[in-house]
Amino acid sequence: ALKIATIGGGSSYTPELIEGYIKRKDELPIKEIWLVDIEAGKEKLETVGAMAKRMVKAAGLDWEVHLTLDRRAALKDADFVSTQFRVGLLDARIKDERIPLSHGVLGQETNGAGGMFKAFRTIPVILGIIEDMKELCPDAWLVNFTNPAGMVTEAAIKHGGWKKTAGLCNVPIGHRKQAAEKLGIPEDDLFFKFAGINHFHWHRVWDKQGNERTQELIDLIYGPQEDSESHLKNIHNAPFHYEQIKDLGMLPCGYHRYYYIEDEMLKHSIEEFEKGETRAQVVKETEARLFELYKDPNLDYKPKELEQRGGTHYSDAACELIASIHNDKRTDMVVSTENNGTITDLPYDCVVEVSGPVTAHGHEPYNWGAFPPAARGIIQVMKGMEETVIRAAIEGNYGAALHAFTINPLVPGGSMAKTLLDELLIAHKEHLPNF
Ligand code: NAD
Ligand code: G6P
Ligand code: MN
Repeated sequence: ALKIATIGGGSSYTPELIEGYIKRKDELPIKEIWLVDIEAGKEKLETVGAMAKRMVKAAGLDWEVHLTLDRRAALKDADFVSTQFRVGLLDARIKDERIPLSHGVLGQETNGAGGMFKAFRTIPVILGIIEDMKELCPDAWLVNFTNPAGMVTEAAIKHGGWKKTAGLCNVPIGHRKQAAEKLGIPEDDLFFKFAGINHFHWHRVWDKQGNERTQELIDLIYGPQEDSESHLKNIHNAPFHYEQIKDLGMLPCGYHRYYYIEDEMLKHSIEEFEKGETRAQVVKETEARLFELYKDPNLDYKPKELEQRGGTHYSDAACELIASIHNDKRTDMVVSTENNGTITDLPYDCVVEVSGPVTAHGHEPYNWGAFPPAARGIIQVMKGMEETVIRAAIEGNYGAALHAFTINPLVPGGSMAKTLLDELLIAHKEHLPNF
């Protein structure tokens, strides 16, 4: 019987997770689900936790759902530990996004200055969780959803030494569904190969007859006649430059908009900033509405409104990965995992986000090889930036942090990098014990 612990259990995404377990009840012999949070999230935990209990009951299951602020009790003898916490909650994200924008720079909570600060706040916490896991559940799998998922996963594997870590994101799932829909071919009849790093990956697609369909999809999704459809609720739907994507020969992920059409994205973000409607601010309102719904003692299923969050299909990643490990299902998934030569342009010991089957012993990535020159340089820059962020987070190293800011393509270098860094360090002081 399985014990699953979820850190950040008070998240409004928890019903998504519970629904995913219920869908897989025949393959997941769950006995206990432990939802853990901290004092600041106590009320959210109680509300969404009660909702989780109702969902389990309505499904006729006898799973125990425990709500606790005691992380050690939750981790004790756990088989799987999933993480979906946000250090500093949404108020910290508002600062991540707004402070850079107040200087005319993209904040972006996973890729930009905001994302680097989310990493600074989160990495010490994930390493603390791993210390507890070494003592309390040495055989458990760590399923990380906490953003920036790539950097947090790399910190867990490379610096925490927790090899049984899988980093997950819902973006690839959306791209798979989008391709299936555009081609009119069931998803299971297509073969996908993703490679890159979290929120910065590309993919190629083949059909059952062995024909590559990537170029056709580029035309269907990003062609001149199309309006460059984004399936991501959290990303402004600005069109890519068709000729550029066509030349690339791979499908970009939604987050590539921040790089390929940075000025468009910045312009839109500044407009949101001026209206007091940055994504974090919008999400804060959505979250409040969701928790009002969750308070309804008759609500015992995931409400439709949760689809307004960017993380839809989250459970198709988390719960499926757990089911695939537990049953050695070998589901083909996109996971942030140790590179080990999968992408030859990047170091062996870094974490990459790539396709492959999930076995009982973890993810086995398909070989990708090298990127074309148009993608090679930028991915190496991005990985170097990530490695520098992680080092800065662990050492509390100001110089390294400044270096990371300078390397990050979304942050201008020089005095602007320093101004932003200094202002964010002050704003987030209480959550940055290492600095
Ligand atoms: P949220 O603001 O609701 O935070 C979730 C919970 O974490 C809160 O209840 C909070 O109290 C708790 N928390 C904060 N610090 C904690 C700590 N030290 N220990 C335990 N719990 C702690 O966040 P959210 O918007 O629901 O998102 C949750 C997380 O999942 C974020 O990190 C977000 O970036 C991530 N996310 C990732 C993906 C993905 O694709 N990987 C998708 C969606 C969300
Ligand atoms: C996408 C990304 C997540 C990110 C989310 C933001 O789903 O994959 O990593 O956390 O969007 O959504 P939000 O609703 O919080 O803006
Ligand atoms: Mn993601």
